[in-house]
Amino acid sequence: MLEFFKRWKCGRVVEGARLESVWARKGLAGSNPVASAKQKHTEKHVSENIIIELQGLTKRYGYGDTESFALKDFDLTIKRGEFIMIMGPSGCGKTTLLNIIGLLDRASRGKYILNGENVANISARRQAKLRAKKIGFVFQNFNLIEDLPVIENVALPLVYTGYSKTAQLKSASNALKRFHLNEREYYLPYQLSGGQQQRVAIARAIVGDPEIILADEPTGNLDSRASHIVMEELKAIHEEGNTIIMVTHNPALTVYATRVINMLDGQIDTDVKTVADANLPQPISVKIKKKKKAPEPEFVSISDNKEDEEKPKKRKKSRRKH
Ligand SMILES: Nc1ncnc2c1ncn2[C@@H]1O[C@H](COP(=O)(O)OP(=O)(O)O)[C@@H](O)[C@H]1O
Ligand SMILES: [Mg+2]
Repeated sequence: MLEFFKRWKCGRVVEGARLESVWARKGLAGSNPVASAKQKHTEKHVSENIIIELQGLTKRYGYGDTESFALKDFDLTIKRGEFIMIMGPSGCGKTTLLNIIGLLDRASRGKYILNGENVANISARRQAKLRAKKIGFVFQNFNLIEDLPVIENVALPLVYTGYSKTAQLKSASNALKRFHLNEREYYLPYQLSGGQQQRVAIARAIVGDPEIILADEPTGNLDSRASHIVMEELKAIHEEGNTIIMVTHNPALTVYATRVINMLDGQIDTDVKTVADANLPQPISVKIKKKKKAPEPEFVSISDNKEDEEKPKKRKKSRRKH
């Protein structure tokens, strides 16, 4: 069965390549309908600044009598720089939507186009890679690792990025400084207040410089003062051009949003933009320095014979003559 599947897959690839070369010979390069549809997709997404497009997204649980839909034919287009707040009664599919956008879950049906590419059916490995690179998460219960100091919690998303440990901790420290928590770098999470823990979680969400921040009721466990501080931080992150999608039950927080979506039974009930697309903030990219390569060791001759050292020079000269 596996053999058959492999051959079937290879056959399709070879067939596709054959057709491409036939089209190329006939001067019809790019006529491959699948390839040109994909290109159109990307062009449209770039020109209209679309970061996420969901088409007919459906999430089904159970079969037959027990079948239910957390999302049903859900369509949504999100532009870069939007601050979207998602509201709606418990069980209407808000968390399911956020988990699918965050590549933590998959839809049963439909398309999820992220930066022009349909990622609905990519492998779990690619999902994890994309998630690490492009998406930061903030959860209601902070999700910090209890026995790791704050700074190491913040550095976690950088573990597989190839940065040195020192660079990772430096970035984490900078992120914490931004949230005025630099004096608490080596505290354990339980030694901080709820508001402080959530700011640590936000620092962790942004440390890898993702394009999209997903927040599921980030102020759900906080009092109003701590909520306000957390919202001001998210506002500042948004003003730097990041796209934020946040679930909340608190209508007072919608003043921070550029768009408010109300969901009902797995679908959009109302969708209101409060800021025109043209006025959305532009992205500011902050790059973290990559791990420096160790300098090449200098060539030191250990030979006492001076002739040995001069030989390479002579060879170089003779090469130049040619
Ligand atoms: N693992 C699951 N198995 C079965 N049903 C689920 C599962 N997860 C969520 N659901 C159902 O999907 C619907 C949407 O859930 P959820 O996205 O968590 O809603 P919300 O975040 O708006 O409260 C609910 O009816 C919930 O019971
Ligand atoms: Mg929820």
